[in-house]
Amino acid sequence: MTTTDPDLRADGLRLAYDDRVVVDGLDLAIPRGRITVIVGANACGKSTLLRAMARLLAPREGAVRLDGRALQSIPTRELARRLGILPQSPPAPEGITVLDLVGRGRAPHQTWWRQWSASDEQAVRDALAATGMTELAGRAVDELSGGQRQRAWIAMAVAQGTPLLLLDEPTTYLDLAHQMDVLDLITDLNRNEGRTIVMVLHDLNQACRYADHVIAMKAGRIAAQGAPADVITAETVEDVFGLRCRVTADPVSGAPLIIPIGRHHTAGSELGSVR
Ligand SMILES: Nc1ncnc2c1ncn2[C@@H]1O[C@H](COP(=O)(O)OP(=O)(O)OP(=O)(O)O)[C@@H](O)[C@H]1O
Ligand SMILES: [Mg+2]
Repeated sequence: MTTTDPDLRADGLRLAYDDRVVVDGLDLAIPRGRITVIVGANACGKSTLLRAMARLLAPREGAVRLDGRALQSIPTRELARRLGILPQSPPAPEGITVLDLVGRGRAPHQTWWRQWSASDEQAVRDALAATGMTELAGRAVDELSGGQRQRAWIAMAVAQGTPLLLLDEPTTYLDLAHQMDVLDLITDLNRNEGRTIVMVLHDLNQACRYADHVIAMKAGRIAAQGAPADVITAETVEDVFGLRCRVTADPVSGAPLIIPIGRHHTAGSELGSVR
């Protein structure tokens, strides 16, 4: 962490849609310069929280603050230069090409006196290369496969070049090899460029392997947070997901490895079968 790393925190946050309160009384500080992964069951409020942290949703109570300033008080262009978000299933403008989509990530860096520049060009080229999208640059986004489209959005978020990057399920639709590519790329952005990352992941094993800090949410609240090995325990997984599992060590990384038990197997079975 350095003193220039972004300081993103929430105090007394209440988030709601109409009269349905999804998150209430939530306090949170995102570790600066680190990778934070949010996990939790469907509908527990992960995307809602992430959207509030990117100012896509205004809090009913409390505030999200970036370097001490409420997000609502930060000019849009300034916020877009400091914070990028990849929402869950974003809609692409009809007919837009991958190149144009990724280029839009550079919009916050342009002004009337400094339009498209060589550094924008370079950022787009680098983002396309890093996500394996160079060959597809000329294709229409709405004609891509789900996984290709997801990578195009990731490329846009990468090209935006913000010190703070929020990603909602960035590995959705990706085959396992591309999931690893994206998670490795995100790790590079953190380790090499010092970007602070907050992402929602459903795969607990990937969360354990890639996170410095895990936040486990349950029904709009933080059930547990801390280092992966402290948070992803059999007890927490049962509490948060209602899932019985065994936890062992990932032989590759040493991080916790979750093995779900399910109804047709028993925890202690040597062969792992009830037959
Ligand atoms: N635009 C919306 N209008 C009304 N209710 C919403 C809206 N978006 C989400 N909700 C509700 O808010 C709750 C939390 O949704 P949210 O999308 O934050 O869950 P999540 O944890 O991201 O789930 P998932 O793992 O399925 O993505 C759910 O009950 C959902 O139905
Ligand atoms: Mg979600």
